[in-house]
Amino acid sequence: AGIWVVIPAAGRGSRFGGEIPKQYLCIDGQPLIAHALDALLAHPRVVGAMVALAADDALWPGWTERLGKPVLRCIGGGERADSVLAALDALPASVPADALVLVHDAARPNLRTDDVARLIEAAAASADGAILAAPVRDTLKRADADARIAATEPRERLWRALTPQAFRRDALAAALRQARADGALVTDEAMAMERRGARPKLVEGREDNLKVTTPADLALMEFLLQRRGV
Ligand code: CTP
Ligand code: MG
Repeated sequence: AGIWVVIPAAGRGSRFGGEIPKQYLCIDGQPLIAHALDALLAHPRVVGAMVALAADDALWPGWTERLGKPVLRCIGGGERADSVLAALDALPASVPADALVLVHDAARPNLRTDDVARLIEAAAASADGAILAAPVRDTLKRADADARIAATEPRERLWRALTPQAFRRDALAAALRQARADGALVTDEAMAMERRGARPKLVEGREDNLKVTTPADLALMEFLLQRRGV
């Protein structure tokens, strides 16, 4: 069955600052969200994308397709999880309840289609979905309330959660709805699934699949994307 992509892009980019929400900043003439979409739509099993936008978004470029595949849009919500849920609910009725859906941040433009391919393979083989992730490289310190080191955390089995994250459409929607009903803040899709006992698979992805959060991240991303281009 075809795989749909969901892109939460309803954020304001408050940590980035500036007038233009970061997903619309351009590198190599393309907004970050276009780089992200193209990497996903390039996978042959991906059939379309649903983008969640802010209700007052005036910058959406009006695409209705890219790479020959439909790009649909809906209105997102107050938290990232609300935007993802709105997008899942807005998918065409023809998308089966057990279809795989890939959720990917609009602000993560340096995604490679080979990582998408490995994620899809792992998710297809997992009952509980799968996410791209990267092993932690730094030494990790737990602090007390005065920012003094209370402990050094062993990092052997610690990973940074990246996106895309891949789950069955109905399972993910139910998990997000339950997190909302419980008043729980979930910062990624896997966390909503974990709250219901799921054990999603970690798929090691490229660690330069970074989320642009601050202006310094954008400078690094310009370097990474331009180096890919040459
Ligand atoms: N997002 C969303 N709906 C929200 C909040 C965030 O769709 N209510 C999206 C953002 O547009 C982004 C992704 O979720 O693509 C990751 O969120 P983040 O990096 O936190 O982006 P912003 O929320 O825009 O930035 P900030 O937290 O600095 O305001
Ligand atoms: Mg945010």
